[in-house]
Amino acid sequence: RPRVLSGIQPTSGSFHLGNYLGAVRQWVDLQESNDAFYMVVDLHAITVPQDPAVLRENARVSVAQLLGAGLDPERCTLFIQSHVPEHAQLAWVMNCLTGFGEAARMTQFKDKSAKQGNESTSVGLFTYPILQIADILLYQADAVPVGEDQRQHLELTRDLAERFNTRYRPTFTLPKPYILKATAKILDLQDPTAKMSKSASSAKGLVNLLDDPKVSAKKFKSAVTDTGTVVSYDEQEKPGVSNLLQIHSALSGQSIEQLVAHFEGRMYGALKTELAELFAEWVLPFQERTRGYLDDPAELDRVLAVGAEKARAVASETLATVYDRIGFLPAA
Ligand code: TYM
Repeated sequence: RPRVLSGIQPTSGSFHLGNYLGAVRQWVDLQESNDAFYMVVDLHAITVPQDPAVLRENARVSVAQLLGAGLDPERCTLFIQSHVPEHAQLAWVMNCLTGFGEAARMTQFKDKSAKQGNESTSVGLFTYPILQIADILLYQADAVPVGEDQRQHLELTRDLAERFNTRYRPTFTLPKPYILKATAKILDLQDPTAKMSKSASSAKGLVNLLDDPKVSAKKFKSAVTDTGTVVSYDEQEKPGVSNLLQIHSALSGQSIEQLVAHFEGRMYGALKTELAELFAEWVLPFQERTRGYLDDPAELDRVLAVGAEKARAVASETLATVYDRIGFLPAA
């Protein structure tokens, strides 16, 4: 069975709709016919300052949401990144193979560090993509289900895997991005030129999965649309309406063509209202399931202990091979 791997940051407590449609939904589908590894990346989270108590709580809430979204610990390996020390260990090795200039070209780093300023940007943020590379290569993943914003990190992953394989011996599988075009980039509801993101300038553009659906309904209803009144799909001219159509299509399973026909003769408001209802129908049971897992911390811990053990079995084997290939003296 092909191996898939992906990760999500625990930084905001609630996942947002972009995380779900862009990534987590695919994780759930892929667990059926793949050997799937999914993790909550707490090591990545501390590249920016985190309150310890909040970080710990957010890791639990993240795992509960992944289970609530439909990950099944019987079908996939679900774990916390820091429970598997090999991630940090392989990251060091990959750091030493990465060019400074190569890392400096990562656009996510450039964007984030520009916002923070040089003095408050950590070295960890700079090497963030290298840790992600280690995450992926440790498991010899064939495919990595993510949103469009991760594409550049995956290209670097392939480059580094090839570099290692050439410099030493074929060791790493070259992973392919698994990015579904329709949901690869869910846009901010207030600024449909930007992706939906927890660091958005306005909270009104961000749909949090754990918010009261009434709050989200307001956000859908006040989404920035475009001049004109006809509901039609045009990413260039009508990014706002097109984004709403994409989200509707992803949640309802109807094609964009069907939706355009369905809304013919009606205005943007009809689309927004229907979308708010559709979202609530999906999100209420999701919240219910998530709460269920949060109410049973012992079960959550059990799931994570099993996950960490399964992950370590694979990760430690890869790391041992890597250490051998680069010429480290084995511990007696
Ligand atoms: P993170 O936590 O920022 O986001 C988790 C996933 O959600 C996707 N995503 C989106 N997809 C569509 N539209 C959006 N607006 C949107 N916003 C976020 C992201 O592409 C991602 O797939 N670096 C990763 C975490 C990571 C990782 C890994 C991923 C660490 N190690 C190894 C894959 C493999 C990140 O920050 O995701």
